[in-house]
Amino acid sequence: MKTIIANWKMNVGVRESVALARGTLLTLRGRKVSPALVICPPFVALSEVRKIVARSSAGLGAQNMFWEQSGAYTGETSPRMLQELGVSHVILGHSERRALFGETDEMVNKKVLQALEQKLVPIICIGESADQRREEQTQQVVRDQLMAALQGVRLKSSDTIMVAYEPLWAIGSGVAATVSDVIETHRFIHLLLGQVFEQAAPGQFSVLYGGSVDAENAYGFLREDEVNGVLVGGASVKINQFKGIVQAAAEVLEAKQTS
Ligand code: PGA
Repeated sequence: MKTIIANWKMNVGVRESVALARGTLLTLRGRKVSPALVICPPFVALSEVRKIVARSSAGLGAQNMFWEQSGAYTGETSPRMLQELGVSHVILGHSERRALFGETDEMVNKKVLQALEQKLVPIICIGESADQRREEQTQQVVRDQLMAALQGVRLKSSDTIMVAYEPLWAIGSGVAATVSDVIETHRFIHLLLGQVFEQAAPGQFSVLYGGSVDAENAYGFLREDEVNGVLVGGASVKINQFKGIVQAAAEVLEAKQTS
């Protein structure tokens, strides 16, 4: 399977989210095979988008959450609240949250533990900066972030974890990583996950690529076995672009069925 995560960030309000959710689901219509879709609208639009997504095979995701269940945490949203809203997935440790809101590896770890506790699928975002890449520290950074995020995780057979490899320099820049770089880093992440969770079934993990994915480059990433899907920001709020990405995933899946 290939999974496409649409991260709408703070780009659409409630009304726009409803229209975009309808348009997004239309991209699946009439297909013999479809990728798995997860739509992550802003918090304020979750309950309206839920009504639309409920009639489809798509999942509903949040873009963040806090790790406590309730209490005096002004402005925060708990895992249980997300569950109540029908959320199945949650993006954690996105680089924008790390850079702009001071999220640390330790905070991401607390969120991952609580997400799993509440039966939410964590989408753990990791990736190196341009400087770290230049210094050839990509693997070290990815390893440190992943290990920190997974600290203390005891995987149950029903748990699923998604890791999104998102090099910081590729996010929103229009310059995606090369397919060969993505394959190399994804192999490394798959290897680490296999080492950490020796007993896990292969389907319990997915490794997705994110960073300037669009209708033109999506096929190149998605056709690779190491790439279980893509996390799409900018192109997920442009319906024609998103349609192209869904089309690319469908073509890859169809080709795999016939081969
Ligand atoms: P982008 O964002 O597709 O706009 O680069 C990806 C992300 O931030 O998850």
